[in-house]
Amino acid sequence: MKKLFIIVALFGSAVMVGCGGVKRDPSDAYMPDMAYSRAYETYADHSQLKEEGINYTNMPVPGTVARGVEGLFHIPKDKLGDTVNYYASRAVSNPITSLSAADSVEAERLYLIQCAICHGTALDGNGPLFASGKFTSKPATLKGDPKYEAMPEGQMMYSVTYGKNAMGPYGAQLNTKQRWMVIHYIKSQQAKGKGAAGASASPATGTVNTGAGKDTTGAAMK
Ligand code: HEC
Repeated sequence: MKKLFIIVALFGSAVMVGCGGVKRDPSDAYMPDMAYSRAYETYADHSQLKEEGINYTNMPVPGTVARGVEGLFHIPKDKLGDTVNYYASRAVSNPITSLSAADSVEAERLYLIQCAICHGTALDGNGPLFASGKFTSKPATLKGDPKYEAMPEGQMMYSVTYGKNAMGPYGAQLNTKQRWMVIHYIKSQQAKGKGAAGASASPATGTVNTGAGKDTTGAAMK
């Protein structure tokens, strides 16, 4: 009985000594890298790293782009008053040469949401915002005006990405693919307009307008 008591007492004190506080500075650590991270934690204090000669700013390396994020447009925005890059963008062609049926519907939907308020569902530059008189700059007549019918898609991309005078930039609202899709939609509507003018004009135009009108209401309601 006495022996048992001694064993229990020894075991008990061993347990208590063993649990005596957290050891922050063990004299020997087996494979310390496994226990202590050598990586610099995002929210940790990095001030001592400078003293160690390590330049760690917590910022992404300048000029790098996060994984999965495309650049806005590989042609940079012109400096104020300069138009060199605006004209250089004419040489860029639309990587989207055809759209699947689903993507065509999506491209039209994006146009109707983002652009039609100014440029109009019929691309006539007479959207409800301009027609209301609240927006006084005449939006480009994307369909029917030879200037915009002939405008290269790259140049449209430049203006849609960075904005043009009274028109704001759309680089933040639409990603690169979506912007090219909308431009593809504009070009295909322009081509349709030409086709309709060449053939029997009125029935074709009528169908296009009704369709576009219906879609806007749907998109605006959602
Ligand atoms: C707030 C009204 C408004 C909205 C919304 C708008 N635009 Fe415009 N857009 C304009 C105006 C105004 C111009 C004429 C700019 C100028 O030449 O001074 C213009 C011009 C353009 C041009 C011709 C650019 C050039 O280089 O001459 C294109 C292409 C265009 N818009 C496409 C779009 C697309 C695509 C969208 C939707 C993503 C859109 N716009 C949304 C007002 C708007």
